[in-house]
Amino acid sequence: MMRLGDDALMRQGPGGPSDPSRHGQLGVSTSGQGAGGGGGTGAAVQARRLTKRFGDFTAVDAVDFDIHVGEAFGFLGANGAGKTSTMRMIACLSPISGGTLQVLGLDPMRDGPQIRSRIGLVPQEDTLDLELTVRDNLYLYGRYFGLPKKQLRERVEELLEFARLTERADERVDPLSGGMRRRLTIARALVSSPSLVILDEPTTGLDPQARHLLWDRLYRLKREGVTLVITTHYMDEAEQLCDRLVVMDAGRIAAAGSPRELIEQWSTREVVELRFEPEGHQVHGDRLADLAQRVEVLPDRLLLYTDEGDATLDAVRSRGASPIAALVRRATLEDVFLHLTGRSLVD
Ligand SMILES: Nc1ncnc2c1ncn2[C@@H]1O[C@H](COP(=O)(O)OP(=O)(O)OP(=O)(O)O)[C@@H](O)[C@H]1O
Ligand SMILES: [Mg+2]
Repeated sequence: MMRLGDDALMRQGPGGPSDPSRHGQLGVSTSGQGAGGGGGTGAAVQARRLTKRFGDFTAVDAVDFDIHVGEAFGFLGANGAGKTSTMRMIACLSPISGGTLQVLGLDPMRDGPQIRSRIGLVPQEDTLDLELTVRDNLYLYGRYFGLPKKQLRERVEELLEFARLTERADERVDPLSGGMRRRLTIARALVSSPSLVILDEPTTGLDPQARHLLWDRLYRLKREGVTLVITTHYMDEAEQLCDRLVVMDAGRIAAAGSPRELIEQWSTREVVELRFEPEGHQVHGDRLADLAQRVEVLPDRLLLYTDEGDATLDAVRSRGASPIAALVRRATLEDVFLHLTGRSLVD
């Protein structure tokens, strides 16, 4: 179930102790080398025709993207779109099959240890040591990075606070709830004060309060100059957090831009959501199609894309259609996603 643990690679050591001078308030490195260590490219990550193949299957199909230093960059996509495969190449946990990839100005194939020492990874599946205490999970991880003991002890206490796990610090991880483990995994990714943090579905399994807390924390990290790379299935998360994002579909990038740009480009301004008897959606969709610029028939709803939602809803009613429920709302990234991939992110 668990994929090749990043721990396994981390245990080999990141290739040298990190520089204590890089540690700021939350110990975040903002100075690094050059533009966040971009080695002169100005990009934290640059991919050109980046490809990942597993045997005959192409999981990531010649994608191009640039992630700028200091931005929050999102990868959105349905299950199997290729997000994790891309994250793992960036994190130097999986070799690229084609194209080129630069991370912090370095080459993952050649400079893996150096890159790993400067990035934090929140893998999709938690890879905590269940037998150890919460505190020791953080502490031992820091030791892999060669952090001096005294400095590390302070850092661990800060991160326990950050993850709101101070009261559970001396308990083993095993009995923690899923959300608590997730928070610990996120804290662990920050132990080495990385300048680039990769978060693969960071908030899956978190309760709403914990999600908002994490968004706040991520926002603060960004303000400190940390580059964030995030995958998510949550559209609100992408809209809140990401300066720019790409929508992945079957290994390719279907669209790229800021949330606002994507909505403007791929959706109308407003959406009328109509709910009829379950078997009626297709029939009503056909009947009302001329009232909207685009119609999307979902199993549980009918979506009419229009710039004037209220007027469209009036028109629906004057046709004699009487939905069980009707709602006019602004378009969101979910609508962009539906348009681009023909399916909803929510399975
Ligand atoms: N180690 C592997 N061996 C073979 N196929 C793989 C491997 N890892 C991923 N794949 C395949 O590559 C495709 C992309 O998987 P990936 O995990 O990158 O998707 P994802 O976008 O992260 O999906 P999810 O939202 O479900 O996490 C899938 O079809 C998956 O089965
Ligand atoms: Mg994934």
